[in-house]
This record gives sequence, structure tokens and C-alpha cells, in this order.
Amino acid sequence: MDLFEQLTANAKATPQRIVLPEGLEPRTLTAADHIIADGLAEIILIGNPADIKAMAKELKLTHLDKATIVDPADEKVIDKYAPLFYELRKSKGISMEEARLTTANPLYLGCLMVKAGDADGQVAGAMNTTGNVLRAAFQVIKTVPGISVVSGAFVMLLPEGLPYGTNGILIFADCAVVPNPTAAELAQIAVASAKTARDIAGIEPRVALLSFSTKGSAKSESVDKVIEATALAHELDPKLILDGELQADAALVPSVAASKAPNSQLSGRANVLIFPSLEVGNIAYKLVQRLGGVQAVGPVLQGLAAPVNDLSRGCFPEDIYKTIIITCNQAIGLKKK
Ligand code: ACO
Repeated sequence: MDLFEQLTANAKATPQRIVLPEGLEPRTLTAADHIIADGLAEIILIGNPADIKAMAKELKLTHLDKATIVDPADEKVIDKYAPLFYELRKSKGISMEEARLTTANPLYLGCLMVKAGDADGQVAGAMNTTGNVLRAAFQVIKTVPGISVVSGAFVMLLPEGLPYGTNGILIFADCAVVPNPTAAELAQIAVASAKTARDIAGIEPRVALLSFSTKGSAKSESVDKVIEATALAHELDPKLILDGELQADAALVPSVAASKAPNSQLSGRANVLIFPSLEVGNIAYKLVQRLGGVQAVGPVLQGLAAPVNDLSRGCFPEDIYKTIIITCNQAIGLKKK
């Protein structure tokens, strides 16, 4: 069974309720129809019911009658969720009237449904920017206890025959969200990425905090940050197999680890790579994807108390379908703990 077959089987075994705020977006509706047809999740669409039904008919989608439709223009819906948003944001000085207006924004309404326990996760971004999708999640769903920063991981599926990672899988993070993490944030990204390795990739994490220095071979402020982050990550999760600061080869190649970092508990067999900044992480995943013929799945947003995932605006229905499956698996993983 490959990774997606496994994730699909997990989703099917424990169906989750996934809210899609872009209920009038054709690629989203197509993906939702396939998810329902395959019995992988309960779908909640946000949008005008008549318009959604008309679009489903036009697209010849036959399973969407099984989706729940929530109308953001329905006063009863706003009455139900606006007080929750007001509670969450009143310390920021918003009025109830502002809370009602924001609640009518589908990206916020979906997150409020998740927060209220009426859905298990949200997928959006086919027609909204990353910033807008993330901001709603940050403000409403917030982070899991012990983590204050949301980050984005990629599950890198290596071509057959490469001796790295576990089962041909490496996790890269943060590649999507936090431009310049502090040492404390980097430590949290390491711990959150270990959870993604377990919940999404099904592998036991071996986490390397990467640098251009291995165990004191070079000195700089950024090296110090990675050393401090490694110590803080150990404190956050003492049982986690984790080491830093390591160069990428010392993290991934046993013979290099034996000479550069002989006492590293990773022994050159890391499967989760934590980059010191978004600049490095984002460039690294794109280079590895393009030059190495590696499939990059994600970004998987991690650290939120309930899963929200962002799509590329150039996405295809197949990408949305897969992101829904990933979101279901995150929701299942978060409920385990
Ligand atoms: N985790 C948790 N909460 C956060 C995070 C985070 N990473 N970042 C911001 N927040 C919270 C803030 O604390 C704040 O909360 P508050 O309103 O309760 O006080 C709220 O979110 C808004 O904070 P801002 O600082 O205003 O955040 P902003 O909206 O400016 O930026 C954003 C957030 C959009 C995610 C920004 O960090 C960003 O642009 N990151 C880079 C995204 C990107 O371009 N990635 C590369 C492309 S993706 C790809 O290639 C796969």
C-alpha cells in the first residue's frame, strides 16, 4: 500500500466532517463529489444553497445532495456562530456587529464550525490567498497546547532506490509559514513536524535540526539559534529522537554522521528535516522537488488545534481531494491525543 492508499483507508475507516468554505468553486465541488462518492468524509459546503445546487447540476455532479450546505447569508447561522467569534476576539476590541460581519465570511464561518465542534477540519484556498486562509485559522482555531506557532510541512516522497528517510519518505519543515522563527518557535516546529511524521507519513520520527554547522564546526548567530532550538525541543518532548545542529549530509548519510557527529542519536538516519528559516525551507523543498524528481505533498499545516489546510489557487480537483484526505488524517491524529 502506498502512502495515499493508506491515508485513504484511514479516512474511510473513521469518516471526518470536512468543511469547504469555497462552496461555489467548481474544482472544490468536483473534489467534494468524488470524496462523497468514495465514502471518505462527510462534506459541509458553505455557500448559497440554490447556487451550489445549480452549479452541481451544471457540472453533472451526482453525489452533492449528500453534502450539508450552510448558507452564510442565513441570519440563524450568524446568530449561532457570531457570539463564539465575539468571545474569541473581544479582547482585540471588536464589537458584536463586527463579529457578525466576519462570521459571514465563509473562511471564518468554516473555522467557527470547527471550533464549535460542528466540523473536524477545513480545506480552502482554491480562490483565497494563503494569508486569508491562515489568518482565519490563527484567530479562530488557534494552536494546540504547548505550541504557539503554526508551520507548514511537506511530505517528500522519494523516487525508488534513494537510501534516505524511512520507507522513501522525508518530512521537510517549515517550508510555508514562519519567515524567521525564534529558537523557541523552531523547537515547536520540530515537535509539530514529528507529529506530522506519525499522523500523515506513518513513520516514527527521527528529527534533525539543520544548519551549515555540525556540532560546533562553525560559529554564527544562526548556528546558536539552532543549538538553542535543539535543547528546547528536547525539553518539549524528551522522548523524541532528535539532534542538532547538523549539516544535511550529517543528518542523512550514516558514513558522514560517523565522522562529523559520531555521538548523534540519529546516526545519519534522520527522516524529519527542520530548516532554520522559511527562506531555507521553501527553497530547499522546491529544489529537491524539481532537481530530484521528488513528489512534494503539502504544505500540511501543523500546530493548529484542529486541521485547516490551504490550497494553491492553481490547484486541480485531484489536489483538493488529496488535501481533504490529509486533513481527515490530521483530525484523526489530533483526536488520538
Ligand atoms: N502561528 C500562529 N499564529 C500566528 C502565526 C503563526 N505562524 N502567524 C501569525 N499568527 C497570529 C498572530 O499572533 C495574530 O494573532 P492575533 O490577531 O490573535 O494577535 C494573527 O495571527 C495575525 O498576525 P499577523 O502578524 O497580522 O499575521 P499576518 O496576517 O501578517 O501574517 C501570515 C500571517 C500570512 C501567515 C504570514 O506569516 C506570512 O505571510 N507567511 C508566509 C506565507 C508565505 O508566503 N509562504 C510561502 C508560500 S507557501 C508555499 O510555497 C508552499
